[in-house]
Amino acid sequence: MRVWALPLALLALAACVTRSVAHHRSAEEPPVAPMRPVSVDPVLLARRLASMQAGWPRSRSFDCTRIKCVALTFDDGPGEHTGRLLDLLGRRDVRATFFVIGQMVAADKGGRTVRRIVDEGHEIGNHTWSHPPLAELPHAAVRRELKHTENIVQRLTGVRMRMMRPPYGSTDEQVAAETRREGLAQILWSLDTLDWRDRDTSTVARRAGRAAPGSIVLLHDIHRSTVDAVPAMLDTLGRKGYTFVTVSELYGKTPAPGKMYTAR
Ligand code: NI
Repeated sequence: MRVWALPLALLALAACVTRSVAHHRSAEEPPVAPMRPVSVDPVLLARRLASMQAGWPRSRSFDCTRIKCVALTFDDGPGEHTGRLLDLLGRRDVRATFFVIGQMVAADKGGRTVRRIVDEGHEIGNHTWSHPPLAELPHAAVRRELKHTENIVQRLTGVRMRMMRPPYGSTDEQVAAETRREGLAQILWSLDTLDWRDRDTSTVARRAGRAAPGSIVLLHDIHRSTVDAVPAMLDTLGRKGYTFVTVSELYGKTPAPGKMYTAR
């Protein structure tokens, strides 16, 4: 290094140190206002605040140890028949539980159907992003499947889901640990209508009509035949004196994260 270069190098070094000190100092100063989304939907914001205050889901109070309760659950949507199903349930003031697939939520126009599910008093649960058998996946993938769905549902509806259903009922200790970490109870079922296999309205309605007190009935709102079967199953179960409840209402509280439930 030439002699004249030394002062220059020292100057450069001093400048560096000064800059880094200045930088360090600025980190201790009061934080600048954090970045916010450009547009905040006032309706969504109000709903989010209301749901935080009221507690979600808005469970009605039933004592399912004394009355005959049944929880109808609809998986794999929202799909093209879900709107019609919501109309049917709404007309009879029946509440159900929907286990939604993240990819289907993303395909739903602007989240219109998931918002309806929440707004009309139904319960909503996480059915993963892409419907894989979770017990066959590594930890990180299980977490991704749950988180992505959680994020999109929360963004569109303002609510945080409290339960999930493992696709194919595929679960193990590792899946249980991940669901516990994500604050989700694992909800299975006690009555499988096999509606995905038998696309026959009267068969599906007849099987659902065999529910026992405390049953969790597995149905899929992506099939036209299942939605078509709903009026008949409501008639049959209604005649038998059943009250239609959400899963949280079936237990009288939000089910515990990580724990597995199949019926009351
Ligand atoms: Ni499914």
